This record gives sequence, C-alpha cells and structure tokens, in this order.
Amino acid sequence: MHIDILTLFPGMFVGPFDDSIIHRAREAGLVSIAIHDIRDWAPGKHRQCDDIPYGGGGGMIMKPEPIFHAVEAVLDMAPGDPPPCPVILLTPQGRLFTQDVAHELARQERIVLVCGRYEGVDERVREHLVTDEISIGDYVLSGGELAAMIVTDAVIRLLPGALGDPGAPLADSHAQGLLEYPHYTRPAVYRGWGIPEILLSGHHAKQARWRREMSLRRTYRRRPDLLKHAPLTEADRAFLDRLREQEGAPNEGSPGQDEWEGRGTSTP
Ligand code: 6GU
Repeated sequence: MHIDILTLFPGMFVGPFDDSIIHRAREAGLVSIAIHDIRDWAPGKHRQCDDIPYGGGGGMIMKPEPIFHAVEAVLDMAPGDPPPCPVILLTPQGRLFTQDVAHELARQERIVLVCGRYEGVDERVREHLVTDEISIGDYVLSGGELAAMIVTDAVIRLLPGALGDPGAPLADSHAQGLLEYPHYTRPAVYRGWGIPEILLSGHHAKQARWRREMSLRRTYRRRPDLLKHAPLTEADRAFLDRLREQEGAPNEGSPGQDEWEGRGTSTP
C-alpha cells in the first residue's frame, strides 16, 4: 500500500511514523508513506496558502490552487481527471472514522490524505477534488494532521503481516463490534490482588466463554450502543438478558456505573 499525505506542516510527521508497528511495516515494504508539503505548490513569492473568506465570517481559509496542484502532481493527473484512488480530506465535517472504515481503506492499493488547516478549506476542494471526507470524532483539532496519523496507524496495522500475530486484529476492541475483555499477565498475585480463577484452570473452552462474556459485559456497561450492531450468538443474547435482569438497563451512550466509578468528569 502507498499513502500520500498532503500537509502544510510536514514536520509534524517526523517521529510518529518512525517507531514501532508503522516503522516495521515500512521496513518490511508493506507500506510506503510520502509526506508532501502543500506549500511547494503555492504560487508567488510568498507562497501563500490561506486567505480571508468571501462574505466575511472570520478565520483564514485554505486556498484551492495549492491543494489542487499538489494532488494533481502527486497523482500525475491532468486537471479535471478523476483521481485514480481515494483522495480523502481530513475534516471535522467528514464521516466518522470507525474500524469498518479502517478496513475499507486497508483494502486500497493507494490513498491520499489531505490535511485541512485554519478555519476551513475552500469549498471547491470538496466539490471538485476530494472523493471522501473523514473525521476522527466529535471534537475539534487544530488541523487534520493528527487525524491523518491516526487513520494511517489504524489502517497499517490491518495490513497482512504488519502485526506479529496474524490473528491479533481479530481480538481487538471494535474488531468484533465489542470492547475487549480484561487481560492479565504474571505475576498471578500483585500487591495482594489476584486474577480471575478461571484463567488458572487450564480449561480452554470455559476460558474462551469467560473472555466472550467479559467482552459482552464490558460493552454492555460502557458502550451499550455498540451492541445494536455487534454479531451475537444465542448464548450471547441469553447472557445479556441475564445481565439486564441483574443490573438493569445501562444508560445508553454514557458509561455504566460499575466500570467507571470515580473516573472521568462526566459521571454524575
Ligand atoms: Cl479530521 N480535523 C480536525 N481539524 N478536527 C477534527 C478532525 C479532523 N476529526 C475530529 N476533529
């Protein structure tokens, strides 16, 4: 896979892609990443990339010319050509980035990520250049750069061979539409705190069922919204029915009490 990232702040990408899984994936040739400075395509002596908005409203807007020229040069396109691969604008107005979207992008041979900055991007970039718009969540960042890094990381770890254990992405939180079960490693007793006995029993089938139920319980308590779309077996549904009887309905969207006691600031 090849990922082109277009940004006004190429320096921000030094470091995050040079360690750990992304570094190994690049070394192994699973992915190549090219960072392009949009300013290299800005006309004039001042290479200005932003300007004031027509009609007022305040803030600075990214000009269309440098972005069009940058994408066309990077993709070797003539003006007006349809792009040969997805060209994605990172913007808080985009569709929400989820694990499903990460899978969708990981199937592509090439993607272009355009990082928005300032208060916005000239609308003609949306209308006539990019093929998709992505947001990483309902909060505002100063620019699309950190979002592009997050998208890049989530996509690369899905490429076959990027992780040591090929089954690992299947167990991740969200991969099965559920949150992950709790994990423990040695020592079996730390500061007097033990671990669930079942994990020491050597009973593999029971342990698998325990992992599944802990995953269901954590999702029920913390993110009940996810259960609407998660693929569930009959046994899963029966377990959730019992939970509902024991605990009552979780508060949709906001965390169930048990798991979050004393954490965060929004717990009543
Ligand atoms: Cl992609 N960009 C910006 N500026 N803010 C965001 C975002 C993107 N996703 C969530 N917030």
